[in-house]
Amino acid sequence: MRLSSLMNDLSSGIFSQIAQEKAQLKANGVDVIDLSVGTPNIPPMQCIKQTIANEAMKDESYVYAIDDLPELKIAAAQWYKRRYDVDIDAQSEVCAVLGTQEGLAHCCLPVIDPGDTVILQDPCYPAFFVGAALARAQIFRVSQRAENGFLIDLNDIPKDVARRARLMIVSYPNNPTTAVAPPAFYDELIAYAKKHDIFVIHDNAYSELAFDGLRVGSFLNHEGAKDIGAEFNSLSKSYGYAGARLGFCVGNSKYVSALKQLKSNTDYGIFLPVQRAGICALQSDECVVRETAAAYERRRDILIGAFASHGWQIDKPRATMFVWAKIPEKFGTDDVKFVQRLMQETGVLVVPGSAFGSCGHGYVRMALVQSEQRILTAAERIGAFLKGQ
Ligand SMILES: Cc1ncc(COP(=O)(O)O)c(C=O)c1O
Repeated sequence: MRLSSLMNDLSSGIFSQIAQEKAQLKANGVDVIDLSVGTPNIPPMQCIKQTIANEAMKDESYVYAIDDLPELKIAAAQWYKRRYDVDIDAQSEVCAVLGTQEGLAHCCLPVIDPGDTVILQDPCYPAFFVGAALARAQIFRVSQRAENGFLIDLNDIPKDVARRARLMIVSYPNNPTTAVAPPAFYDELIAYAKKHDIFVIHDNAYSELAFDGLRVGSFLNHEGAKDIGAEFNSLSKSYGYAGARLGFCVGNSKYVSALKQLKSNTDYGIFLPVQRAGICALQSDECVVRETAAAYERRRDILIGAFASHGWQIDKPRATMFVWAKIPEKFGTDDVKFVQRLMQETGVLVVPGSAFGSCGHGYVRMALVQSEQRILTAAERIGAFLKGQ
């Protein structure tokens, strides 16, 4: 059997590789502290778990869901109105996805033919690359550099690329760099997309995890966004719902309808108890999400503070559940080697920045997905390691 060329493009994900190394370390008796995968360790609210449990006991929950529950789409539209003051038509402008990972993996297919150009950030969340690869797109990557606050500069996109490009995937607050885009960025992006006839997908997975009183909005809140774009939003981080797999694509109705059509050919919908409990999450009091954000903020402060006391100065992220750090100078720029050494010598797992694109070279990403105590222990171990070098 010959595997397709696609399989070369989709190397086994970085997180699977880290999981293997973690298993090996644990088998050797190492007390591993895993700050690699952004899997939230803050459980969902009681009412969410209870709804899943109750619904899962009903025989009628085990039919193919096929479609999104109308109540779920209404709850998502109401959430957009309440949270971002964006008007969404529940019927035509919302499509639920099996987690935004699935949505992003499929997001290019409604608009991209093989060979069409897709613009991605560098570094970026790996699912964006997967989406472009599945559509057999040509990929152009636009740098996110420290000197530009890790924002893309649209002037960095060559004119011929802009002419060819049919889709652009953008995400702020950004994983992995944690950058937050100012409102003016989105206005520029929309004007640019209109000028060059490029469809924009914005991933807003971290709008709820913003710190120090920051309120992050929606791309769809900007004039003209729905004409040229759509936004993905996830319940995974905001509501501790990652394993249940529920997210949304919201925005341009032609795009949403095409995505639905695509999905009607690839899956049979989302387990009904997951949809019902998703409604409960979307209708819950916002203070629960605020508490979750506050928990990540405390963890951030502990990690950054402990590193600073060991001489590793890192800018405080304003949002997301990650810390994006330039590796200390004495380690050069080889982030993969640095991560390997941390793993072997401290038992702390983090992700090399280059796993997110070549512009991530020399950086590491740490996910704030352990308790405050474990985060402090991780930082102390790393601090001792740095001192010993
Ligand atoms: C930027 C971004 N988008 C999407 C996802 C996928 O989230 P989910 O599939 O759980 O909705 C993640 C997960 O870490 C992410 O960081």
